[in-house]
Amino acid sequence: MGQAVDPGDVDEDVRRVKVRGPDYAGLRGHGSGEHLDRCRRSLCDSYTACFSRASSRGECSKREKPVRVTAEMLRRQAGFVLETVRRIAHEPALGREFPRLLATGGRGTIRLRLPWLPFRLIDELQAVVSSGSRVFEYGGGGSTLWFLDRGAVVVTVEHHQGWAAVLQRSIGSDDWTLLAPSLADGPAEYVDAISSYPDDWFDVVVVDGRARARCVARALPKVKPGGLLLVDDIHRKKYAASAVRDAGWPRRDVIGFAPAKLSLGCTAVLTRPRA
Ligand SMILES: C[S@@+](CC[C@H](N)C(=O)[O-])C[C@H]1O[C@@H](n2cnc3c(N)ncnc32)[C@H](O)[C@@H]1O
Repeated sequence: MGQAVDPGDVDEDVRRVKVRGPDYAGLRGHGSGEHLDRCRRSLCDSYTACFSRASSRGECSKREKPVRVTAEMLRRQAGFVLETVRRIAHEPALGREFPRLLATGGRGTIRLRLPWLPFRLIDELQAVVSSGSRVFEYGGGGSTLWFLDRGAVVVTVEHHQGWAAVLQRSIGSDDWTLLAPSLADGPAEYVDAISSYPDDWFDVVVVDGRARARCVARALPKVKPGGLLLVDDIHRKKYAASAVRDAGWPRRDVIGFAPAKLSLGCTAVLTRPRA
């Protein structure tokens, strides 16, 4: 249930977000032996609560948390760097985008008003998104601001109540609809958020939040013929690879540096056939 946050992905916007309210109430199982093990392995976003609960029951020492968390973050960060170097060695053109990442100066995506997508894909989207374009996104952030800045009409579904509040504070636009269902009872409401819109409606749908495989399946009929369905982090096994294959639409995977991210990103771009 907890949102997995790559150490390199966390920026100053989200550090201020307190995970409380309905979303927090939904994080059942934190501190349990099984969850603690998952937490140790994957550093879910509420590892602090998990370790605190476990240490209050004597299942892990107070010292264990900072040591393990720091070690895990360093291990993952080193893994990202090694993988990035390996890929650039294989495809040197990727390295030429590194200066764009440096130019973002460590700022977060909200401050940058940029999507958390490869720079080269953002460049492509410039040609696709214009005034009046209809965009639906599972997972909001800098992308929401970027689409609105281009005059698009945007619907965002955001599972994290704290992050939804950050977005609400940052955005005041009549062209924006925010839906923020709780995941406490599972992702059905989140996945279905697109269902009330007509078929063939959106120019672009971005799947970049929770339950990605289910979101892809639900979103397919809502994309216009000729429109785009983007699925971010498609290289992660759990994310929608089979749903994307089942769609049978022409697909390209765009790999590259993205703002506020030290590792390379990979986004599947599916185009709905016109006939
Ligand atoms: C990959 S992000 C979605 C990003 C969004 N589509 C964009 O491109 O800006 C998935 C989830 O992470 C959270 N999130 C968004 N922006 C974030 C940021 N700058 N730092 C940390 N978490 C963020 C939100 O809960 C969001 O639903």
